[in-house]
Amino acid sequence: MENYEREFYDKMATSETMLFDRFRKKESLNGNWNYTVDQYDTCLRQRWFDEIYYDDCGNTLPVDFSFDGWDMMSLPCSWNVTDKMYLLYDGSMVYTKKFIYEKQNDDEHMILKIGAANYLCRVFINKQYVGMHRGGSTPCYFDITEFLQHDNRIIIQVDSTRRSNQVPAMNTDWFNYGGIYRDIDLFRVPKIYIKDFKLALLPDSGFKKINVSVSMSEKYSGTAKLSINELGISQNIDIVNGYGELILDAEPTLWSPENPKLYDVSLECAEDKIHDKVGFREIRVKGMDIVLNGKPLFLRGISCHEESVKNGKALTDEERLENIQIAKELGCNFMRVAHYPHSEKMAQLADELGLLLWEEVPVYWDIHFNSEDTYNDAENQLKELITRDFNRASVIIWSVGNENPDTDDRLSFMKRLADCAHKTDPTRPVSAACLVNEEKNAIEDRLEEYLDIIGLNEYCGWYTADWNKLPELFKNSKPKKPVIITEFGADAYPHLRGTISDKGTEDYQAFVYEKQIENIRKTSYIKGMTPWILYDFRCPRRTARNQKFYNTKGLLSTDKKYKKPAFYVLRDFYNSISGN
Ligand code: GCU
Repeated sequence: MENYEREFYDKMATSETMLFDRFRKKESLNGNWNYTVDQYDTCLRQRWFDEIYYDDCGNTLPVDFSFDGWDMMSLPCSWNVTDKMYLLYDGSMVYTKKFIYEKQNDDEHMILKIGAANYLCRVFINKQYVGMHRGGSTPCYFDITEFLQHDNRIIIQVDSTRRSNQVPAMNTDWFNYGGIYRDIDLFRVPKIYIKDFKLALLPDSGFKKINVSVSMSEKYSGTAKLSINELGISQNIDIVNGYGELILDAEPTLWSPENPKLYDVSLECAEDKIHDKVGFREIRVKGMDIVLNGKPLFLRGISCHEESVKNGKALTDEERLENIQIAKELGCNFMRVAHYPHSEKMAQLADELGLLLWEEVPVYWDIHFNSEDTYNDAENQLKELITRDFNRASVIIWSVGNENPDTDDRLSFMKRLADCAHKTDPTRPVSAACLVNEEKNAIEDRLEEYLDIIGLNEYCGWYTADWNKLPELFKNSKPKKPVIITEFGADAYPHLRGTISDKGTEDYQAFVYEKQIENIRKTSYIKGMTPWILYDFRCPRRTARNQKFYNTKGLLSTDKKYKKPAFYVLRDFYNSISGN
């Protein structure tokens, strides 16, 4: 870190500064912002945000910016897909816009939410530094009340530079889209407001008890009122020093993919009132089974990135809906939204349409497992994800990482992360996508001890050529917990046909799915699978003639208009085991 950056690394937005915001009235800051590429971080180095145009004697000073004279970019977006010039740009961009603030109540608070900015973002309002956030896939919130006047200028600097101490680090098998790619909103809340509101079925209570917790913005003491009219619940909750928790009797219709029943919930406290739509279900691991609402199930899944050729990571609601609809057409009840937190709208949609989700933080491949600062970054992203999606019935598994080399540093780092997930959310199992123990050709990773479900990425038939390794792998393994095959697959360039020996063809990809399914279905400790991946995606590491900067392991083409033969192989298998 250079000296100029030091002052802009404090006032960090974290899971502690989040706001429960679903269904709250909001003022959107989406739309046209003035912007510039800022390749050398000149905004921070020269403190453009001070807006100093004259010296002490009133002489005009030369400045290297003209906020209102810059070009416009419509936010949210991934800047890489807005202009060919920015496709491969990793670095800083500076966005600015003016807005009017009309105070309505003397003691109100104005909270700024940035839905996601990859990777670092810093906020300035009216020449003052407000704070920063790091982490490219989780929301950040800033109380900007003290900075506001009637006419305001906001500046947001976003830095998408990949760094070895970040989470993820420098090297990923996906495209590093930069920018503010989810909604930017202002929330007007009372002086004392509800910061966090969690409710879920109390595990092992026979589906007859709901645990509710309420966190307030200040050490407020009083009474909150919970209403779930359809369950005849109108319940007072004592709030002491800003916190209250209660277990109440209820017998809700249980949420499931087949019956995604949601209840309207409201909570009032002090001057604040919030709403949510919540499904009640129980997800447990019992012995070698994954159990939903008391019934063991097989997770018929598929992996999916959050990206589209047209919009980068700034998926539209239609694109999210399309991904879920195609997964359901595939016969899925489950989706691994990899390798980082997708938009909260994904879990909200999965709640409504009935799809179980594996959500994950981007502790991906080899990161700085020996760095406390990197650990804090990873833990904060995990807590932000859990805080954001706790009330989502569709989310059944938190994953603390993917394909991490089994070293001592990695083990202590990810054990801590798994412990943090269990402590933050005792209602959901914790997993990670582990690698095969190549030496033993077995499922054997020291991290398994700290997980509830073992995720395993194995590419027999692709990176591992010898097909005999697959039955041996499953035979050699003696897992003590249920296993989900979190990745298998093969590249197939759309419409490229050949024989089942030609790697890279659709015929070979379909053959790999057939062989994988043949082995997986015979292995009783495997309780789910999320083959890699729903559709082809942009990837700078994939430069072969038939890849052209795309990872082509998708079951569909990048535009999702074309289904490869392997789609039907997987669909037929899922339909055969789901009774459809
Ligand atoms: C890895 C990794 C994925 C990657 C995939 C592949 O297992 O988890 O992110 O895209 O394999 O090689 O295609």
